[in-house]
Amino acid sequence: MTVYPTSLLPPLFPTLVPLEPFLDESALQQEFRDLPSVPVLWQVQSIDSTNRCLLEWAPQGLPQHFCLVARQQSAGRGRRGRAWISDAEGSLTFSLWWIFDRSLQELSGLPLAVSLGMVEALHSLGMTSVGVKWPNDLWREGRKVAGVLVETTRLSSGQVGAVIGIGLNVALPSSLQDTCVLSLNDLRDEAGQAPARATVLGRLLNTLIPLLESFAQSGFAPFAETWMTHCVHRNQQVTLLHPNHTRSQGECVGLSSLGGLILRDPAGEPHTYHGGELSLRLEAP
Ligand code: BTN
Repeated sequence: MTVYPTSLLPPLFPTLVPLEPFLDESALQQEFRDLPSVPVLWQVQSIDSTNRCLLEWAPQGLPQHFCLVARQQSAGRGRRGRAWISDAEGSLTFSLWWIFDRSLQELSGLPLAVSLGMVEALHSLGMTSVGVKWPNDLWREGRKVAGVLVETTRLSSGQVGAVIGIGLNVALPSSLQDTCVLSLNDLRDEAGQAPARATVLGRLLNTLIPLLESFAQSGFAPFAETWMTHCVHRNQQVTLLHPNHTRSQGECVGLSSLGGLILRDPAGEPHTYHGGELSLRLEAP
């Protein structure tokens, strides 16, 4: 049973955000059975942004591993100031709250670690064509299927609180795909069947919680090699677009211990690039 320990939360929270579970409880519990403790999971029908909400409430204290999932977001936030468009029936939008005893610099690999955990979770559900695209997108057959937006806040304890926001296309209606500038994909198979959202969320949390415990202990470095094995651009010639519109080109060969992308230039020299504001493109052949 998913518990809602409202006593742990800021007193106004439940009245401002009515809890309205929409995911199948038994599918969630099935996924949580091997976790040492069941995550506190709040489900709401509609909210502006699960990331914004958790960031607002963080200073008043949120339990570790708290997860807020919304059926619909009216102002979902994406990376690089973009909006995140989702569908009430076909998307999964949620944020997970995690407190770290690490510097902001050490947390730069966190979104990459999360994207790796998501790929591993989806592979375990049979969706083995999903890979990672630097820095933290999930791609399937050349199109985006999910994104991660990590927003951080410094706590009075000196620790860093991270809101790990995840948006995943499970079964997108074509009307929504048409309104998007990005080329999107989802989790449906050839027969058009998508997994239940409760199963996907449960499996994601089941994978992410132990992975985040490990990241909190050891940082990103132990994940770098595995991340590259799932990289959709591994050993390919790519172009990095910088916020000032300049470009860097090279072969995508690896990741630094903090999650920076290593490109090898034509002379064979490696260059490392950091920053969530960068955008990666496959070079035209
Ligand atoms: C991206 O641009 O690739 C990141 C998208 C992240 C979207 C998720 S949906 C749940 C959470 N709440 C938000 O407002 N954004 C994130």
